[in-house]
Amino acid sequence: MRMYDLIKKKRNNEELSEEEIRFLIREYVAGNIPDYQMSAFLMAVYFQGMTEAETLAMTMEAARSGDMVDLSSIEGIKVDKHSTGGVGDKTTLIVAPMAAACGVKVAKMSGRGLGHTGGTVDKLESIPGFRTSLNREEFFAVVNKIGLSVIGQSGNLAPADKKLYALRDVTATVDSIPLIAVSIMSKKLAAGSDGILLDVKTGSGAFMKTLEDSVLLAQEMVKIGAGAGKRIMALITSMDIPLGNKIGNSLEVIEAVETLRGEGPEDLTKVCIHLAASMLYLAGKGEMEECLRLAEGTLKDGSALNCLQKMVEAQGGDASVISDPETFPKAPYMRKIIACETGYLAAMDTELCGIASSLLGAGRETKESEIDFSAGIVLHKKTGDYVEAGEVLADFYASEEKLFEEAEKCYRQALTFSEQKPEVQTLIYARVSEEKVERMDIIV
Ligand code: URA
Repeated sequence: MRMYDLIKKKRNNEELSEEEIRFLIREYVAGNIPDYQMSAFLMAVYFQGMTEAETLAMTMEAARSGDMVDLSSIEGIKVDKHSTGGVGDKTTLIVAPMAAACGVKVAKMSGRGLGHTGGTVDKLESIPGFRTSLNREEFFAVVNKIGLSVIGQSGNLAPADKKLYALRDVTATVDSIPLIAVSIMSKKLAAGSDGILLDVKTGSGAFMKTLEDSVLLAQEMVKIGAGAGKRIMALITSMDIPLGNKIGNSLEVIEAVETLRGEGPEDLTKVCIHLAASMLYLAGKGEMEECLRLAEGTLKDGSALNCLQKMVEAQGGDASVISDPETFPKAPYMRKIIACETGYLAAMDTELCGIASSLLGAGRETKESEIDFSAGIVLHKKTGDYVEAGEVLADFYASEEKLFEEAEKCYRQALTFSEQKPEVQTLIYARVSEEKVERMDIIV
């Protein structure tokens, strides 16, 4: 088999066989296919797309390029959850304990934040002492005992994806729906759960800016998961406004705790109830209505908060910050961002809000950057709110005063004011399963 022929075949829009796809992934990882040939192939995929059979074959081979986690020693149904990433998206910290409180096992490997998006591992590491790096035995033991464990992705999970992603990043082939689907799903399949819930974000702070593309991505991923024998579903949720009111690592843990106490912001609470209910549904806990009721119940009776607390203790974290989030280490500087005009807040460019938080120290520009756990933004006004000039729009937190200026400039650029009240924002657009796309159009 020659890589040249496979590039030509894809360029001419012919379908590659499973054997051919397996060859190109295997040989690329082994270092026998040079980057320039793989780049040409990726660009051909960018323009020609891939068939369902090709995407499944590529995902399976990329998953098998490293460790395939075997969760069979954990009793019960294991359900994973994946978000395509956003700003203020602390849902894993809330939804995983909610599902665990209902008896679903959650053995989750999460990522770090990069660019304008946050990552669950960074948020958890803002809890003093919390270990996101457990060995296999420790990880399984925590899931068996508590019902959930969240750790960082192991170095050998889908190494083919790591190599391909680095190449896509420098060859303008990241934003290809089949390649994103392969990338995400290879890691999810390698992680070994029985069920997978996908939270596909859509809007100005998301990878996919339009609803149409978000649905297409969700459909591709659901088809791959189902083809690999997984129970799988996707919700399409909004990232046109930051989720909740807090952006930044320890700030987001605090908001997760507030939400688990039943005192969280309405948008975040609603999204979390639907995500958790979908995980319960995938675990066979009942019809969706029943699952929604069960999920809501874990916030009312405190059982989900209890699960988070136990997980933090089991992974070496200082659980007192969960029982009393006021004890979290605080940023030394705070600046109030004051509205200069009166009117409705008509839109928030969510990517810019994420960048503003990153500029305060909450995010990292490169994989090597150090982040400041206490930095970030507390929003007092969001899209749809009426604002009087002089009112506080947001509080900024940072460890160095000099960081405020650029972050404030960026944040102000994100905001659009209008005399007219904007249309009500949709929070959850649709549910995508193997059979269908159901419009939900749930608003705050
Ligand atoms: N997230 C991933 O893991 N891979 C992509 O290609 C895009 C987003």
